[in-house]
Amino acid sequence: MDFEIVNGSIESVEADCIVIAIAADGELSDSAKAIDKASSGAISDVVASGDFSGKQGSLLLLRSLPGINTKRILLAGVGAQSERTIIKQQQLIKSAVDTIKTLGVKTLCFALDRISGNSDDIYRDTRTLVEASSAALYQYDTTKSKSAPALTLEHIHIHLPEEDTEFGEGALLDGVAIANGVSTARELGNLPGNICTPLYLAEHAQNLAEEFDSVSCDILDEKQIEELGMGALLSVGKGSVIPPRLIVLKYQGAEDANEAPYALVGKGITFDTGGISLKPGPEMDEMKFDMCGAASVLGAFESVAEMNLPLNLITIVAAAENMPSGEASKPGDVVTTMSGQTVEILNTDAEGRLVLCDALTYVQQFNPQAVIDVATLTGACIIALGHQATGVLANDNELAAKLLDAGEFAGDRGWQLPLWDEYQSQLDSNFADMANIGGRPAGTITAACFLSRFTKEVSWAHLDIAGVAWSSGKAKGATGRCVPMLTQYLLDIAEQIEA
Ligand code: BES
Ligand code: MN
Ligand code: ZN
Repeated sequence: MDFEIVNGSIESVEADCIVIAIAADGELSDSAKAIDKASSGAISDVVASGDFSGKQGSLLLLRSLPGINTKRILLAGVGAQSERTIIKQQQLIKSAVDTIKTLGVKTLCFALDRISGNSDDIYRDTRTLVEASSAALYQYDTTKSKSAPALTLEHIHIHLPEEDTEFGEGALLDGVAIANGVSTARELGNLPGNICTPLYLAEHAQNLAEEFDSVSCDILDEKQIEELGMGALLSVGKGSVIPPRLIVLKYQGAEDANEAPYALVGKGITFDTGGISLKPGPEMDEMKFDMCGAASVLGAFESVAEMNLPLNLITIVAAAENMPSGEASKPGDVVTTMSGQTVEILNTDAEGRLVLCDALTYVQQFNPQAVIDVATLTGACIIALGHQATGVLANDNELAAKLLDAGEFAGDRGWQLPLWDEYQSQLDSNFADMANIGGRPAGTITAACFLSRFTKEVSWAHLDIAGVAWSSGKAKGATGRCVPMLTQYLLDIAEQIEA
């Protein structure tokens, strides 16, 4: 799909369909007014006859309006000012594109000018248009015998006033970069476990290093992992015939290669059977999505490289397959982590924290300004926050606040949970420095407590994306969350550096 900013009077736009906004109580946006005038009141007639009220999220396709060259006008209800949120805007754009993509439309033009005409919102609105349209157009067909039929839709135009064009172009480029990162994360997530293995993720990272001059990549194999003393990561990969990998990607965007980097760390369990603490059968296929933390840090990394942000970024993926076998870890096994701390593995299904703790120790040799790990870590997070919010836990409230703000801005929201000391004792073990599980209460928090023992010396946040990384049921598939939150966080830092 190619995106383009267009100007000029809306009646003269050349497209096969124009989307215009109608607010609550049928209040017409400027573009809607212009089309209404050129069509001798066709839009106000639709509103007056009670066919369209502008209710948030509603759509109505009109055809062949008198005096209008464009064949189709899609009315989009944006509701009252007070109920307009970025999430609702994403949903509206997505359903508009879903509607249009089944029609014979080659060029679609969005003229969703704000009823309020607030120009501060142009950057965000333009980005939302690009990101939400791309999300609607993503289709997985990699492992189908026939690829999906090519879409008629080829161009999406965004109509802006002349004076906002330059601003809009910047937003468009950022939006495309983020949308590409999201698509990458979705694709990696959707690939089945027999294709997307630790070795596949490593290859993907190496391809990124080929693609961008600013990127380099190191892959540590099981021998190097052992030599580094990463007994926890190693113990998770042991049950599988496919060996684990520690993937290290470096992006240099700052002038000084030695400037302290930001760091992202992703859980890359390419399939989580639970190991000897085997998971029940139903829905186990969804555990191919247990590498979505890795997918989102890889997606965000790609977006950052594409946007050429003026900062340094390290991204680490701890990749392994969690399988039961004669060589797998058993409940009660004790392993020594790279930090020297020992862990009693009471449940082999709490494997995410085991691979992450060694990656978190490893990343600190780069003296990062901040470390953010991303993981589909706990089912408990779905119970706590459902499928709306990423769980955010941090040893630095300022870092947590920045991530929450970034998520709010990008329409990829998180919610903070406490990381109080009082939860730590749930991890007490009689046989090691800590156990890898903390019992039923506050499962998301005790998982983060476990990780906090490996990040004492650094500003660190943990994102639990168990509830948001994929959808189940008919629309089963990876979402690409939390690429927008991560990328926005780094964009905000870049903006501060540039200011
Ligand atoms: N990958 C799972 C968490 C998960 C489960 C995410 C379902 C999304 C949907 C993780 O490795 C896991 O199994 N966690 C256990 C931890 C428990 C044994 C303390 C869980 O949540 O049940
Ligand atoms: Mn597990
Ligand atoms: Zn897991």
